Amino acid sequence: MKFETKVVQAGMTPDPTTGAILPPLYQTATYVLEEVGKDKGFDYTRSSNPTRQVLEEQLAAIEGGKYGVAFASGMATVDSCLKLLKAGDHVVCSDDVYGGVSRHFNQILVNYDLHFTYVDSSNAANIENAIQSNTKLIWIETPTNPLLKVTDLEAVGNIAKKHDILFGVDSTFATPVFLRPLEYGADLVMHSTTKYLSGHNQLIGGAVITNREDLFDQLKFVQKTIGAVPGPFDCWLTIMGVKTLDLRMKKHAENAQTVAEYLEAHPKVASVTYPGLPSHPSYDVAKTQMSGFSGMISFELTGGIPAGKTVMNSVKLAKLAESLGAVETMITHPATMTHAEVPREDRESRGLTDGLVRISVGIEHVDDIIADLAQALEKV
Ligand SMILES: Cc1ncc(COP(=O)(O)O)c(C=O)c1O
Repeated sequence: MKFETKVVQAGMTPDPTTGAILPPLYQTATYVLEEVGKDKGFDYTRSSNPTRQVLEEQLAAIEGGKYGVAFASGMATVDSCLKLLKAGDHVVCSDDVYGGVSRHFNQILVNYDLHFTYVDSSNAANIENAIQSNTKLIWIETPTNPLLKVTDLEAVGNIAKKHDILFGVDSTFATPVFLRPLEYGADLVMHSTTKYLSGHNQLIGGAVITNREDLFDQLKFVQKTIGAVPGPFDCWLTIMGVKTLDLRMKKHAENAQTVAEYLEAHPKVASVTYPGLPSHPSYDVAKTQMSGFSGMISFELTGGIPAGKTVMNSVKLAKLAESLGAVETMITHPATMTHAEVPREDRESRGLTDGLVRISVGIEHVDDIIADLAQALEKV
């Protein structure tokens, strides 16, 4: 089955009772047993729920994996993956992971005797050099949030295999439309389904996909034991979102390419980072392992914080919002928004400069997106 067909059809069977074409929304906490010890495969929604099961099967199918496990948020998914480790274990992690992930690792999981080393994973040698005798997980985000660093997953997959280390990939930015990390040896692929997979800023959710039955069993155990599960309605909304994922992502990527090229030629823009531009440092890797470059762009204004603020306060169509990956164009200024609390030197050392702007390019007409940016840049 081709990918475009899978996103629409995978996991969908007409409801046996009514013939409903869409999976019913089982908004229930529990299930009535016919008699002691005899249920219909479901007993309590924290353990499993038919609507969530449809979503988990759908996500596994589009990621090209065997098993999916859905959670209440992307962060709950990351946390559940890290629950596969034990006290004393060490993780090698991309240095530009989403700030919420590094906050979780550095401010919560370190208290449970887990250890983290952050490296620029766009050079796979950095990962191998950081491996210690207790390294149990390599955690890669590609492209990263917000600097859009791209990691060569085949190279990292080989390193993980050689050292027998679990390999997890946060593929939220790429989506299975453009990248399927399991094909490169990943053991775990996670998504914040809050973003492109649901696609309309309508919910918070997450999921992990694996081909390994042992990991699936452990993750299901974590899911039902800790209980960070998504509600059935959020699962249902995500299922609906996925059905248009392929169409949406192609439009996001087409628009983003045009916007990136426009920005790159703009005199008030010092530099543009987009994996689809030949100027991107990992353009060749991105072109080889991704079939498209998705909808996220970072760009650097020459005028620092004042310029960033002016653009943020001048855009009209683009929404000033912290999230990404939805149909609406959204814009963020890390120095005054997501990373405002991080001291300037720390931010700058991570490449999060005062003039950095991140844009999640939506599926509106690209002329309108560019006209909006043009009028905002004119005010700088
Ligand atoms: C790449 C990435 N991973 C994980 C997360 C966390 O997901 P959530 O906000 O759904 O918990 C985010 C959120 O922005 C993200 O961008």
